[in-house]
Amino acid sequence: MKIEVSAENCDLFATPALIIGCWEEAPVADPLLIMLDGALAGGITTIYPQAERLGKLGRVSTIATCGRLATQRLVVVGLGKKTEITAERVRRSAAAAIQAVRSLGISECAVALQNMPELPKDSAALVVEGAVLGNYCFAEYRQAEDAGVAVLTLLCPPTTAVDDLVVALRKAETVSRWVLYARDLVSHPGNVTTPTYLADRALELAGRFGLRCHVLDRAELEKLGMGGVIGVGKGGHEPPCFVVLEYVGLRAPKRPVVLIGKGVTFDTGGISLKPRENMERMKDDMAGAAAVLAATMAVAELGLPVRLLTLMPLAENMPDGRAYKPGDILRMLGGKTVEIVNTDAEGRLLLADALTYAQQFRPSVVIDLATLTGACMIALGTAASGLMGNERRLLARLQQAGERTGERLWELPIWDEYGEAMKSDVADLKNAGGPYGGAVSAGWFLKQFVGDMSWAHLDIAGTAWEEKGTAINPKGATGVGVRLLVEYLSS
Ligand code: BES
Ligand code: MN
Ligand code: ZN
Repeated sequence: MKIEVSAENCDLFATPALIIGCWEEAPVADPLLIMLDGALAGGITTIYPQAERLGKLGRVSTIATCGRLATQRLVVVGLGKKTEITAERVRRSAAAAIQAVRSLGISECAVALQNMPELPKDSAALVVEGAVLGNYCFAEYRQAEDAGVAVLTLLCPPTTAVDDLVVALRKAETVSRWVLYARDLVSHPGNVTTPTYLADRALELAGRFGLRCHVLDRAELEKLGMGGVIGVGKGGHEPPCFVVLEYVGLRAPKRPVVLIGKGVTFDTGGISLKPRENMERMKDDMAGAAAVLAATMAVAELGLPVRLLTLMPLAENMPDGRAYKPGDILRMLGGKTVEIVNTDAEGRLLLADALTYAQQFRPSVVIDLATLTGACMIALGTAASGLMGNERRLLARLQQAGERTGERLWELPIWDEYGEAMKSDVADLKNAGGPYGGAVSAGWFLKQFVGDMSWAHLDIAGTAWEEKGTAINPKGATGVGVRLLVEYLSS
């Protein structure tokens, strides 16, 4: 979506659709609404005598202008009560409005920011974010599909500080575009997004943005002793691999932030095969890898002054004559042994090797993202990702970034008690515990591989995929984690 800015008056800007926000309290006292209503000779207030109703949160009403305004129609989106406005409400309202415009088959529109809250640059950035995210549709494999809204013009009050605005918009547009990139990677099916495909995307993007990128292939993984990645990948005919991506910004600190993303390009469960219902969703089991790759590229494009080391352990989890099986004992990177009791608990094996690999770089912090457990989805649903880790300050900062971006996190404990279930009679650890507390026993398992690093683990099983579709997250892949990580790294 192309974003443009104009200081033209709302009544004079020629466009197929002009989006305006409407507050629930006293819309008839809003100068913008009064002006537009006047131009329409009462076209808003006569049709909606209780104009407050237009302001109900999330409500979208379309009003024809019949030549009395330069816009062909007004798309009025309810913002709810002025006193209750939040950043997330602005994003969602913009997304809902853009979807309404899109459903009319219109490819260009404008949005009036004159009556928006706070600083113009802040609300403009939120509007852009909501509009870009809400306008998304994955249509790569369908012949008949409209292209969505192609151009959005922001109409700003003439007093706006344009330089600030342009900086904020560019950032919002860039980050949102990378969210869509992550969504695309997750939406492509497992026969396209293979480990090799993801590694090729990383190499291609690294070339384009001047990052260092190295892909460890199966032979190198075996030599290094990455028993987790090798073990999980044994059943797949697509070979596993491990991507190491490095970004160094100007004035970057010496110690890197390490990002790790689970990249199971399809999770059948392996020999501990999953039931057939909804197994197709398991193409999203690389959403962690997609998020860290996209976030890294967003950071590179924005030129943030940080040092990033991004690790993506990639494999298919397939049943096969060569596949790893229950009872097998894997020797992980670093020497710990793991008894496999369930081949469907594969993500933690990839992450464990990546966490151990990270230790040699003495990172300031390590953050891993993974669609790790169905249990996390059962505990928190789709409104928050699970957050676990070993350092209060890191967890608090991530949680703040989550509040600011709307990608919320909720902490789960990983007390030692949760390790009881993971004890093995024959190896150092088992890869799965009992039926209860599955999200935390997975977190506890990971903790055994972090050494003395400051570490946070985000379980995005419930947030990576949107079943019904919301304003910001149309049905399917959400790209969760990209905005959160960029926000965390920006502050
Ligand atoms: N990729 C799944 C977790 C998952 C489930 C993500 C549903 C999104 C939706 C993971 O590899 C898995 O299978 N976890 C098992 C762990 C168990 C065997 C200990 C699970 O959650 O059932
Ligand atoms: Mn699994
Ligand atoms: Zn999985």
